[in-house]
Amino acid sequence: MSKYSIKLNGKKHQVDVASDTPLLWVIRDEIGMTGTKFGCGMGLCGACTVLLNGNPIRSCSTPISSIKPDDKLLSIEGLSANTNHPVQLAWIKEQVPQCGYCQSGQILAVAALLDSNPNPSDQDIDTALAGNICRCGTYQDMRKAIHAAAK
Ligand code: FES
Repeated sequence: MSKYSIKLNGKKHQVDVASDTPLLWVIRDEIGMTGTKFGCGMGLCGACTVLLNGNPIRSCSTPISSIKPDDKLLSIEGLSANTNHPVQLAWIKEQVPQCGYCQSGQILAVAALLDSNPNPSDQDIDTALAGNICRCGTYQDMRKAIHAAAK
């Protein structure tokens, strides 16, 4: 076990875990934020997506030892402080979620996309979300919501 300091959603946390502990389990089990989901555990589905310095990463395959104390981590709980983020509002308006399991990862990936590309094409969206799988097949509704959030 080793001590690690991480900054999640603007707040510092100290954890004492093995160096190869995936960030996903630090966020869920050590810090207690369960909006980040476990899907495949192999970096393939995107359910565990969080943002590291604004970029989507797979927290299931990111060891805690690779996170620096100054890195800014964002999970779905930190996307908006007191009100919904524009992506979340568009998600609600377009009624995107079905089972909802993948949606926190999808929404964070979309927030990162719109930060770097405020008016993405369908192709841009498909490319950015290619690693985020939705077993309910909400891809068309997500596209509609992303275009709405981009306005
Ligand atoms: Fe991390 Fe599937 S749970 S990519």
